[in-house]
Amino acid sequence: MGFRKDFLWGGATAANQYEGGWNEGGRGPANTDVMTRGSKDRARGVTYILPDGSHHQTESITVKNLPEGARFAVLEDGDYPNHKAVDFYHHYKEDIALMGEMGFKTYRMSISWARIYPTGMEETPNEEGLGFYDAVFDELHKYGIEPMVTLHHFEVPLGLCNAWGGWADRRTVDCFVRFCRTVFERYKNKVTYWLTFNEINNIPIGFLSSGISTDDPAVIMQAAHHQFVASAMAVRIGHEIDPTFKIGCMLAASRTSIYPATCRPEDVQQAWEKAGQHYFFTDVQCRGYYPSYQLKYFERKGIHIHMEEGDEQILRDGTVDFIGMSYYRTMITETVPAEGSDPLLLGAINPYLKATEWGIAIDPLGFRITLHNMYDRYQLPIMIVENGIGAADTVEVDGRIHDDYRIDFFRDHIQAMKDAVELDGVDVMGYTAWGPIDLISAGTGEMRKRYGFVYVDMDDQGNGTLKRSKKDSFKWYQKVIASNGEDLG
Ligand code: BG6
Repeated sequence: MGFRKDFLWGGATAANQYEGGWNEGGRGPANTDVMTRGSKDRARGVTYILPDGSHHQTESITVKNLPEGARFAVLEDGDYPNHKAVDFYHHYKEDIALMGEMGFKTYRMSISWARIYPTGMEETPNEEGLGFYDAVFDELHKYGIEPMVTLHHFEVPLGLCNAWGGWADRRTVDCFVRFCRTVFERYKNKVTYWLTFNEINNIPIGFLSSGISTDDPAVIMQAAHHQFVASAMAVRIGHEIDPTFKIGCMLAASRTSIYPATCRPEDVQQAWEKAGQHYFFTDVQCRGYYPSYQLKYFERKGIHIHMEEGDEQILRDGTVDFIGMSYYRTMITETVPAEGSDPLLLGAINPYLKATEWGIAIDPLGFRITLHNMYDRYQLPIMIVENGIGAADTVEVDGRIHDDYRIDFFRDHIQAMKDAVELDGVDVMGYTAWGPIDLISAGTGEMRKRYGFVYVDMDDQGNGTLKRSKKDSFKWYQKVIASNGEDLG
């Protein structure tokens, strides 16, 4: 009973939300570096320049149909919270010591592609960038922490976005594969666990996920094909370089966790169909071919995926070793949208669940159901690489942070994961809580929406000392790890 003895407890971050040092050490700009706080308080926008020199800012992270001749650029007076982020670049020793103190067995992080290949197109890598990650991995090993590296976490070198629209173009596959080969060779003695594309099924969100500047579904699905091919090639090359590598995919599993709003068969069918649009991604990456239902869907929508000769074989040869997944919430759908529902993102409101301040439904039982479904479908080990609650914390006058709501969230979700293991027989390899040290939100660019066990003194405007302080949840998570998930009290 209980979790595996070698269960990988830890936390997860992404370079573009955590690392900072955006223009240090020879790093080039990336798509995420042109994302501002946005013109609305909480929205995250993207800046671009027209040929006449005028600059514009979108209000969301999806750039729709960029005007002719426009290019993305970092503006001198732009407001870019993630340029500095919380500056892991200069605080990595301190942060890793905190992870060590919590007892982390693993730390999931991403390598910034633009730190290794500044425009994405160079023939040789940036040695200073490689050296930075050497130092990080060495520091982790001092504490017995196993790195788990995401190769692509919402970051595309800006050079590739401006040259040919990022993943919309097949040439990006070659650039990415070169990057993967470089880091596999370089870190083969330091890293065993790899993830290819973070939340690959979030590709329709556009610019953030793939550097694409159109909302044309045919372009987006072609870009998804390029990511599938790149992921499969990375898996194959990785295994050639070191057969002991464990290489996984990564799915935003919340998007497969859709409840029908009623027992009306139409609602059930719609929920099932929407989930299929996301399972499709893991179907390709775990089984090695496009599922028939998706081929039929493409046919109905008039979407033709251009495959090069050999692609089908590449997909078959490059299936993953395990499934990485993020889980934050469940969603609800109905054929008639409920009043007050956000048709774009959140779906109808589930009256049986509480939600966070940001409208994210809190559903631990949904977590167990999601794990069960995922394991049944693929029979591959599952690594939960993201789970957590974004909440505004209050620092008391004595400097303490009482985040009981966070402890409650994690307790309930870890219990649900335990139930999935003990009652449903799901093979879970590990669990990395999202943002163990506060970081910048991917969706809104805010700092106020905090996920960490460690508080970072910085506000939404970037003011603060960056001092790290332990929240109440720090000690709680430490106990959970020390007891291998038995002591959730
Ligand atoms: C996941 C992403 O979708 O959700 C992370 O992989 C992200 O990068 C996390 O930070 C939480 O979302 P947000 O918008 O609250 O930062």
